[in-house]
Amino acid sequence: MLLVVDHPLARVRLTALRDARTDRAAFRAAVRDLTTMLVYEALRDAPVTDTRVTTPVADTAGTALAAPPVLVPVLRAGLGMAEAAHAQVPGALMGFVGVARDEETLQPTPYMESLPADLAGRPVFVLDPMLATGGSMAHTIDLLAARGADDVTAVCVVAAPEGIERLRAAHPAVRVVTATVDERLNDHGYIVPGLGDAGDRQFGAM
Ligand code: PRP
Ligand code: URA
Repeated sequence: MLLVVDHPLARVRLTALRDARTDRAAFRAAVRDLTTMLVYEALRDAPVTDTRVTTPVADTAGTALAAPPVLVPVLRAGLGMAEAAHAQVPGALMGFVGVARDEETLQPTPYMESLPADLAGRPVFVLDPMLATGGSMAHTIDLLAARGADDVTAVCVVAAPEGIERLRAAHPAVRVVTATVDERLNDHGYIVPGLGDAGDRQFGAM
């Protein structure tokens, strides 16, 4: 399932991200703002439980998330989404996956994983601003599936049709929440029009 978050404020932040003149600090701020909106929409139909709460005046009905998602930022670029996502679900457990795309072959090169051992029955939100070929996301979801995850949402800022199609074929149950589906990939595997290299624009070119 694909959800495109097409709110005017999301489009404004996306415009700042696309703008090649946006500096690193402003770029990171726009990633954080957009993540807040994406996670908010991704949780729109989340199951809740009824609670009670005592205000300074009276007891009244309250709400709790029945199952806060496990948050999994994909290093590096997904790190810029982690804090804003965590602020939305402060009690969430967070795991980490490190994967760098080989810019010659466009294949994912994994270098780190730190994940809960058992993800069966738990919603998982993977945080990565860019879904291009889909190789990095498919690798991450393979790791999650090996731990029993069967309720996975890919939270992205920009998705390419090629990446969405790859996920649909490899992991049909995965939900994709994104601010935009762009036109295509170019010959170097970059999303067009996209926003460039999301890791470099947040943290600097290595
Ligand atoms: C970027 C991005 C994704 C990946 C997307 O990371 O954050 O993880 O590329 O491309 P794909 O869908 O074709 O796999 P990158 O590998 O540049 O690493 P970085 O986050 O460390 O900059
Ligand atoms: N990774 C990025 O950071 N940007 C793209 O356009 C494609 C992959």
